[in-house]
Amino acid sequence: MEQTQLASKGKREIPKIKYKVSSQMEAMLLGSLMILMISFIIAQAQLKTGFYSSSCPTAEATVRSTIESYFNKDPTIAPSLLRLHFHDCFVQGCDGSVLIVGSSAERNALANLSLRGFEVIEDAKSQLEAICPGVVSCADILAVAARDAVYLSNGPSWSVPTGRRDGRISSSAQASNLPSPLDPVSVQRQKFAAKGLDDHDLVTLVGAHTIGQTECRFFSYRLYNFTTTGNSDPTINQATLAQFQALCPKNGNGLRKVSLDSGSPAKFDVSFFKNVRDGNGVLESDQRLWGDSATQSVVQSYAGNIRGLLGLKFAYEFPKAMIKLSNIEVKTDTEGEIRKVCSKFN
Ligand code: HEM
Repeated sequence: MEQTQLASKGKREIPKIKYKVSSQMEAMLLGSLMILMISFIIAQAQLKTGFYSSSCPTAEATVRSTIESYFNKDPTIAPSLLRLHFHDCFVQGCDGSVLIVGSSAERNALANLSLRGFEVIEDAKSQLEAICPGVVSCADILAVAARDAVYLSNGPSWSVPTGRRDGRISSSAQASNLPSPLDPVSVQRQKFAAKGLDDHDLVTLVGAHTIGQTECRFFSYRLYNFTTTGNSDPTINQATLAQFQALCPKNGNGLRKVSLDSGSPAKFDVSFFKNVRDGNGVLESDQRLWGDSATQSVVQSYAGNIRGLLGLKFAYEFPKAMIKLSNIEVKTDTEGEIRKVCSKFN
């Protein structure tokens, strides 16, 4: 079928490959070439940075100023906006489906009941509708808001590829694939892998827990009744157990909030990873990342940075992982719609 000849007998002998192809193979090659070309066209239709530069040049600035004004009144809005984007992307892709109001909509799924920040996105949207009606999607506002939220919390910034369209489906039943704080690493890994994210992405993205809070009900069982025999989770650092117990007292208010990163709750830094390394992770799912050799080495790579370079690696890797997250199952071109109001389909 295939034979190699020497193209010349000069100084540099370049192997020349000669193919003998049947007409059947020719047809197959042509077919593959067409598939390649179609994939290329589809790839071209994907997101791009500055998507609104001519259709709505102030789009990103409008989102930024809106987030900033809410953040200045209440900095805890930043982690909530970051989480909102994550929960949007994991269900039906990053398409604003989490924003829809309705009894069977995503927003009503158990895992989404404590989401916050909807009014911030809606506010940005109504300002954008006044400037450039029908142009900027709610899905893009969520992605840009997440980036701005990290930046305002002293974290890194990055260019957000845009051009997402809003979805036309929002179903609470589909939200069951969101990770649970009880998930062992194997399940976390599987849920992230289903979205094209590997172990490195998983640990890097969970690093978002460097800001924000959790309700005691997601954490107390680790302090008092881990094995149903009245024990605490043995992986909790015994030196800090009493401090955790003071934050979430036994049989206390399950809705009381505690910081996910007890080191520096409002600052986007690597102290979350140090906590996980030292047995001070709050959520069980976070602490488990230290118990698996693959995820442990990623945690260690962020927690153990040498002085002076502290946080640089995380600040470099987090935006890359966020761009991957923000790209999950996006709708582009003529798919979906551009909603007029983020909480309702057109
Ligand atoms: C295995 C994966 C994950 C699990 C099990 C998980 C679970 C949780 C839980 C239980 C809370 C507390 C919710 C509450 O008390 O109302 C929370 C908060 C939060 N999560 Fe995650 N999460 C995961 C991954 C992520 C990712 C990938 C991001 C973002 C990229 C993220 C961002 C946040 C933020 C910022 C908060 C704080 C929200 C606030 O203060 O309002 N999480 N997460």
